Amino acid sequence: MRADEVIDLAAMGEDFVRDPYPVYAALRERGPVHRVRIPEGADAWLVVGYEAGRAALADPRLSKRWEKAAETFPLSSPAAGTHMLNSDPPDHARLRKLVVKEFTPRRVQGLAPRIQEITDRLLDAMLAEPDGRADLVEALSFPLPIAVICELIGVPTLDREAFRNWSNNALSAIDPAVRYAAVQEVTAYLDRLLDDKRRAPGDDLMSALIRTTDEDGDRLSAEELRGTAWLLLVAGHETTVNLISNGVLALLTHPEQLAALRADFTLIGNAVEEMLRWDGPVETPTYRFTTEPYEVGGTVIPGGGELVLVALADADRDPDRFPEPNRFDIRRPTGGHVAFGHGIHFCLGAPLARLEARIAIRTLLERCPDLALDAGPAALTWREGMLIRGPHHLPVRFGSGPRS
Ligand code: HEM
Repeated sequence: MRADEVIDLAAMGEDFVRDPYPVYAALRERGPVHRVRIPEGADAWLVVGYEAGRAALADPRLSKRWEKAAETFPLSSPAAGTHMLNSDPPDHARLRKLVVKEFTPRRVQGLAPRIQEITDRLLDAMLAEPDGRADLVEALSFPLPIAVICELIGVPTLDREAFRNWSNNALSAIDPAVRYAAVQEVTAYLDRLLDDKRRAPGDDLMSALIRTTDEDGDRLSAEELRGTAWLLLVAGHETTVNLISNGVLALLTHPEQLAALRADFTLIGNAVEEMLRWDGPVETPTYRFTTEPYEVGGTVIPGGGELVLVALADADRDPDRFPEPNRFDIRRPTGGHVAFGHGIHFCLGAPLARLEARIAIRTLLERCPDLALDAGPAALTWREGMLIRGPHHLPVRFGSGPRS
């Protein structure tokens, strides 16, 4: 790569959004870091490949704080406050500690019956469609994780459509004005929501965090409380949704893998890991900024707030780590994939996301023996931007057959 070369990913348009994998692979052939222009409207250093990506995710020289961005950095933060994912040590540990106990594998396993109940109710409604067709995103992938996260953190009255638009726009809109407006609206909305919770506390995570704040003000400020609510709601809206959609799409476009899973549902755990590895919901995770010069494969990224992006999607398709990486194989060893990140910011919601996807996908397949795509894969449209990867809609046919 010439030192001054900037690869314009934005100019690649729809093709890149639909299938970024070959672009990343071609870059990886040339080296582990590249200067790129991203569709969101900034220049970044893109780290590709498994080793370099994993190292960058855990390197303390890369800050998660937007205050560390260079003065000339053109974008504003999509967050409605401070939270663990836009903090560095020591604040990071303080913010994470308060929430972590809600997400232990054991606590999360206790939610299984409720997740099953919600899945069953959603599938009852879908299967009642007289024409045997549905958009799986609307019928299952979107409403399930939202229902679960809202119950867990205690916002049963969330205005779901409005929140969905703000959350989608804050994270994926290409127009900075649209992104900014969404963050403003969501900030006002969350402040109202937290006021209501303060007046009528419950037995939920938000009430617990509010109590912590009120009793011991220096542990979680009002701004951090809002930021944490935003992070959990956004994580619930934007990620598991696409794990279910991308995962079902992978199965429906690989009939032999689908048949293997149908023949032996004990494979579901590893199948979900392979869905995460092969086409995970987070393409490049949240922004990191250099606090000092950072060397990757002989290229020195200057300090002083340069944006560094890690292509998780490429790390998990690196042949040095996963043989025949482009093959979707629900039986392959998947250990070490980075779809949930790596290091101190490793996804807190991973046990919950895994459980939801296992229950949702298994139940869907059990109740729909004839499940099939109702559109050519090329007709699907994909989420804009480089953070989140998933189709807007997933049209399916479920035909006739046993559905209860
Ligand atoms: C399949 C679904 C999910 C995927 C692929 C995913 C992916 C990720 C990734 C890649 C990160 C690290 C980002 C970075 O280092 O820049 C992360 C962090 C995080 N995720 Fe998830 N996530 C998922 C679901 C969830 C759910 C359901 C929740 C909670 C309700 C959640 C909560 C979080 C939180 C709180 C963090 C920040 C952790 C920290 O900074 O210490 N995630 N997630």
